[in-house]
Amino acid sequence: MKTIEVKGALVPALGLGTWQLGGRQCVEAVRQALALGYRHIDTAQMYGNESEVGRAIRESGVPRGEIFLTTKLAPGNYAAARARRATEESLKRLGLDAVDLLLIHWPTGEAPLGETLAAMARLRAEGKTRFIGVSNFNVALLEEAVATHGADIICNQVEYHPFLSQRAVKAALARFGLMLTAYSPLGRGLVQRDKTLAALARKYGKSPAQLALRWLVDQATVAAIPKAASPAHLAANLDIFDFALAEADRAAIDALAANRRVVDPGWGPEWDEE
Ligand SMILES: NC(=O)c1ccc[n+]([C@@H]2O[C@H](COP(=O)([O-])OP(=O)(O)OC[C@H]3O[C@@H](n4cnc5c(N)ncnc54)[C@H](OP(=O)(O)O)[C@@H]3O)[C@@H](O)[C@H]2O)c1
Repeated sequence: MKTIEVKGALVPALGLGTWQLGGRQCVEAVRQALALGYRHIDTAQMYGNESEVGRAIRESGVPRGEIFLTTKLAPGNYAAARARRATEESLKRLGLDAVDLLLIHWPTGEAPLGETLAAMARLRAEGKTRFIGVSNFNVALLEEAVATHGADIICNQVEYHPFLSQRAVKAALARFGLMLTAYSPLGRGLVQRDKTLAALARKYGKSPAQLALRWLVDQATVAAIPKAASPAHLAANLDIFDFALAEADRAAIDALAANRRVVDPGWGPEWDEE
């Protein structure tokens, strides 16, 4: 498994997303993922599945230190006292002493960014999270986060797949030496339905999803966290390291960028131009 090194963190480049996994299905999917070799799991307070994710991790037999676990503060929890309480509640649900990465899930402006980041930095200093970061930040917010005293963030988790270039966000992250975690890396089905990807995938004896994931993780500081409930998808998404994309094929995938988003709530930030 390829690992991304950023500010002392070692992040497996391919992880499991868990949005919309719940109950027994969530426990099973995380358990199977860990058995298959996944070592990076993404959850969030908003997903309502931290108990199931934690249970699967605790019962997996995989040493805790081998797993990179992310959770995210939900909107409503960004004031300092609430950030602390919400994180402690997350740890209780997870049944763990610490997460590896704590993110601000969505910028909402409900509390000053510096206040939330300082609270997260304190939780980090106390060992409740090993690293901190942000999600769904545009370039301006990213610049503000980096400039904010005490905010030693490592990543921005944003939507990223072949149909959305994230050109501006990627350039800003490179400037600051931060990583990008690609959410909805399969575009929630866009990838599987694309004819160009299907034709390219046939050449490699792979699926369009596998091609898109390889295209993502080949980028030096990009991790991808596809969600999969089915055992076949869980296995396929990990089986992407036994081929290499030709330069011309990488370029063909780059050329699919079309500013298409699958996650765009009306209350989100103003996205940067592609
Ligand atoms: N920070 C944020 O605001 C944010 C927002 C959105 C998502 N996320 C994170 O990113 C994760 C992934 O994003 P997502 O769930 O939106 O979408 P996604 O990973 O792009 O797509 C998931 C869909 O693709 C299917 N799939 C998975 N592997 C496949 C394969 N090899 N071949 C064909 N189909 C495949 C899954 O089916 P099955 O489940 O049936 O296997 C599921 O229907 C989330 O679970 C969450 O952890 C974060």
